[in-house]
Formats: sequence, C-alpha cells, structure tokens
Amino acid sequence: MDAIGELQAYEQAALAAIAAADGAAALESVRIEFLGRKHGRLRELQTLLGQVEPPQRPAVGKQFNDAKSKVEGAFEARKQELARPKSVASGVDITLPGTPLALGRKHPLTQTIDEFKDIMGRFGFSVADGPELEDEWHNFEALNVPEDHPARDPLDNFYVAAAAATANAGAAKDGNGRPVLLRSQTSTVQIRVMERQRPPVRIVCLGRVYRPDTIDATHSCMFHQMEGLMVGRGVTMAHLKTVIRMLFTAYLGHDVSIRFRPSFFPFTEPSVEVDIPWEGGWLEMGGAGMVDPHVLEAVQYDPEEFTGFAFGFGIERLCMKRHAITDIRRFYENDLRFLRQF
Ligand code: DAH
Repeated sequence: MDAIGELQAYEQAALAAIAAADGAAALESVRIEFLGRKHGRLRELQTLLGQVEPPQRPAVGKQFNDAKSKVEGAFEARKQELARPKSVASGVDITLPGTPLALGRKHPLTQTIDEFKDIMGRFGFSVADGPELEDEWHNFEALNVPEDHPARDPLDNFYVAAAAATANAGAAKDGNGRPVLLRSQTSTVQIRVMERQRPPVRIVCLGRVYRPDTIDATHSCMFHQMEGLMVGRGVTMAHLKTVIRMLFTAYLGHDVSIRFRPSFFPFTEPSVEVDIPWEGGWLEMGGAGMVDPHVLEAVQYDPEEFTGFAFGFGIERLCMKRHAITDIRRFYENDLRFLRQF
C-alpha cells in the first residue's frame, strides 16, 4: 500500500473507532492508539513521510495533514458529545433551568396534631387510633352513656343510613346487627385501647369527630379532638392536672396555670372542665376527669386496683386561639391564601 493509501486507511479506522467509543475511558484509549505522541499510529505514519519520494511529498504531506486534522476534530467533537448529559441526546436538555415546583406545606391542623403528638410523646403517651365509623357500644354504652341518655338522640348524631342493598333498609348495622354512627367523640378510643390492653395505659388519640351542629364561626359538623387516657395504680387528679399543665405550657411556650371547674361527663367521676388564662379571663379548653368505675368495669379492669384520668380537647379551638383565627370554617375551605400563612 502506498503512503496515501495508508493514510486513508488510518483515517477511516480512526474515525470509526472514535464514533464507536461509548465513554470517556474508551475514547481515551482510542486517542492513545491513533493520536498518541509517542507510539500512536499517526506518529508511526509520520516516520513514513521521510521515506516518500520527493515528487510525491507535497501530496502525501497534504494527505497527512488532512487526516490528522479530521481525526483530531472528530476526537474533540466526540469528547464533548460524551461529556454532555445523556438525555440531551433524547431531546431533553437537563442543563436548562427547571420550572420551579410549588412546594406544599402541612395543613395548620395537621401541624397542630403533629405538635401535640410530639409533646405527649415526650410525656410517655403513645398514639392510638380507632375507626371513625363506630358502634354504639364504643361511642356510648361502654362510656357509661345509657340507652335513654339525650346524647344518644338520633338528631344529635350521624347515624349511618344503610345502603339500599341492606335487607331491611334503615340504620346501618355492625357485625352484631347494631346501628353504627360516625363517632361523636374520640373517647371511643379509650374503650378500644383498654379492651385490648391491660394497665398501665398511657395514650392519646387525635382524630375527627362528627356532630350534626349548625355550621357557624365556631361550629362545624366535623372537627378534631385530642383524647388522653392514663390508667394504672395510684393515678390521681394531681397527675391529670400536672399533665394538662405541662401540655399547655409546652404548646403555648410559656408557663400556664390550669383551672378545674366542676362539671359532668358520664364517663368520668369527678368530672371537670379545664380552663387556662386567656386575655385577662379564662378560656375553656375541654373536659377531663377521673375515669368512672363503670367504664373500667366495662373493659374488665378492676376499679379497686386501677384508677385513671382522661381528657378531651378540641384541636381546632386550640389552633384558633394560638393563631388568632376567628372562623373555624377557614380550616376546611382549602383557600391557599389562608393555608399559606402556616
Ligand atoms: N368526649 C367529651 C366531648 O366530646 C370530652 C371529654 C370530656 C373527654 C371528659 C374525656 C373526658 O376524656 O374525660 O365533649
């Protein structure tokens, strides 16, 4: 093969190898093979040049320079191509600035719930859960709310109408044929926990409750409660007051005193309403008391051996107070101008 032929063969082989190199390392070995200063094939061809007959030298020299610049050019181009992110080849240039994503945030009620779980967790209370669709046993009977109690009035509760499929249309029934309703209080979870666990018990339950109230600035037919329950040996009202005080001190960020006002709940005896100081007066936070012996008996706890306290607070109410929110409906309207403030 003459020198021109060899240079053409070199050029073809080099261009093919460069195109085939599929990564920086592969391309580098191609460079060393074809363009390497010391032992590269171009270097070898250069030594051939000296042996070419003088009349052919200009043509061979030109061919040499052409081949060299083409191969070098192809090498540089391939090098840049490999350095570019892959997906550019598929039409998406990921080096372009992106479209900013609108970051969401937690709903103020979810933030409040998380915070209460965190605070109560530090006091050793674990988080319990229960169904929102309840039977009368857990919502009323086991909580010492007898059949003829006004709280059980169908007009004051969301009894769930049966689907048409039910044999005798009417109120929906649970597995035992008893009516079911949307729970009106998270106190149901006290029963569910005690039914499956022996003392000591230390739980909170934060969740939705449902009542057919007329909706206005302070009432909603669905809202959230935090229920607390502690049962063990020697649990007293002093523990109740201390835990509540620590809870509100942690939530509001400064020491608060707690006022107990005598009250009545079927599931506690004695029962109190809990107030904290607020803007020169007192603000009611919710109900509490010592678990009624009837409730302990309903879950087969011996009231002679164990005592307990319980409390229930409205979560919206606390969140509204802390953030000076004046209308409970704001929480459920999904107005981003409101939600973005939290
Ligand atoms: N369940 C009550 C309500 O919804 C609140 C409540 C009061 C819960 C006293 C308790 C309690 O655990 O001890 O109005």
